[in-house]
Amino acid sequence: MACFTGCFSRKADPPTTGAIDLEEELSSIQNIRLYSYKELQIASNDFSTVNKIGRGGFGSVYKGKLKDGTLVALKVLSVESSQGVREFLTEINTISAIQHENLVSLYGCCVEGGHRIVVYGYLENNSLAQTLLGSMRSNIKFSWNIRTKICIGVARGLAFLHEEIQPHVVHRDIKASNVLLDKDLTPKISDFGLAKLFPANLTHISTRVAGTLGYLAPEYAIRGQLTRKADIYSFGVLLLEIVCGRCNKNDRLPGEDKYLLERAWVLYSDNKLEELMDVSLEGDREFDLDEASKFIKISFLCTQQMPKLRPSMSTVVKMLRGEIGVDEKMISQPGLISEQFGKNNTIDASSSGLEKHDNSTSDTTMSYGTMTFSSIYNRSP
Ligand SMILES: Nc1ncnc2c1ncn2[C@@H]1O[C@H](COP(=O)(O)OP(=O)(O)O)[C@@H](O)[C@H]1O
Ligand SMILES: [Mg+2]
Repeated sequence: MACFTGCFSRKADPPTTGAIDLEEELSSIQNIRLYSYKELQIASNDFSTVNKIGRGGFGSVYKGKLKDGTLVALKVLSVESSQGVREFLTEINTISAIQHENLVSLYGCCVEGGHRIVVYGYLENNSLAQTLLGSMRSNIKFSWNIRTKICIGVARGLAFLHEEIQPHVVHRDIKASNVLLDKDLTPKISDFGLAKLFPANLTHISTRVAGTLGYLAPEYAIRGQLTRKADIYSFGVLLLEIVCGRCNKNDRLPGEDKYLLERAWVLYSDNKLEELMDVSLEGDREFDLDEASKFIKISFLCTQQMPKLRPSMSTVVKMLRGEIGVDEKMISQPGLISEQFGKNNTIDASSSGLEKHDNSTSDTTMSYGTMTFSSIYNRSP
């Protein structure tokens, strides 16, 4: 399998999208509570490292306590982030108007001088990336029932974004570090910095590719063709991670074991799915191998190469809940991006729809065969 994932630089920030002046910025965030920098500074003890709870493509996230005792998460846009102001506005405008049990709740923001901070309700159990998949696994016991609840919750949140609100929202960065857990381990989809609003009359948007390698749907990574099905692909990868308790990629493993989706497909084909299950589920009385195998089959459906073969998120919710069956005849080999770069299989960048940015530098460009990836904005972690 050829290298796809390791070949991108995290420095591959896109060019700035044009200056946004403060007035324009503030007028677009009118109906949101504005916090002063001072009060957030006090709440987080001057953004002390002790209070730092996360870091992502956007900047650092700090825990804080407001004067009235409310616990908050303060997402501080880093000054060097060229993409930042756009992401900041997208995040606020996307999430401010919507509320759902499985989406994070926005409290407000701070726009003062050069400071840009998003204020969220604090979620006690951090992200799935840290607590379920992280190298320092937490002491939370992710029983089968809890995993089921998490999978269904994320699927419901995504079904809401995709199907229940107008315009629809494509999140574009569904992954373990963007699923947060509250004190009851209810999952909340977070991080709407890359989200796109999708007017009903559009079938797809052609866009610069942004997202996180390992979760990117092939048609989106290669042609920049964005539909809700790209989120569904990412969800399929995440679903597999939750059931198996491991990251979609593990460089320490040899060959085809490295990529979880590929390994899962091999074991499924050999009728050995039980080998894939998280060992920490051993002895869990609630664990049901048939049920877990069903979840893995759903993840294959979500990651089908052809977007139209992937089920909608509302169908996924019903399948996960057992309200409708999973038709195994519909399952064929999932679309693995890396697979498309086999030795005899080169893709012409000009016909693939990839854009080439003017500011591409050698460390942001990857060539394989005739294909040049210069436009993927890798937002990991
Ligand atoms: N509301 C919150 N409560 C607790 N932790 C949070 C919260 N928001 C973010 N975090 C932590 O910060 C990390 C980065 O936040 P995220 O919103 O994904 O930012 P980025 O856009 O920088 O990726 C998350 O993965 C999580 O560990
Ligand atoms: Mg994130």
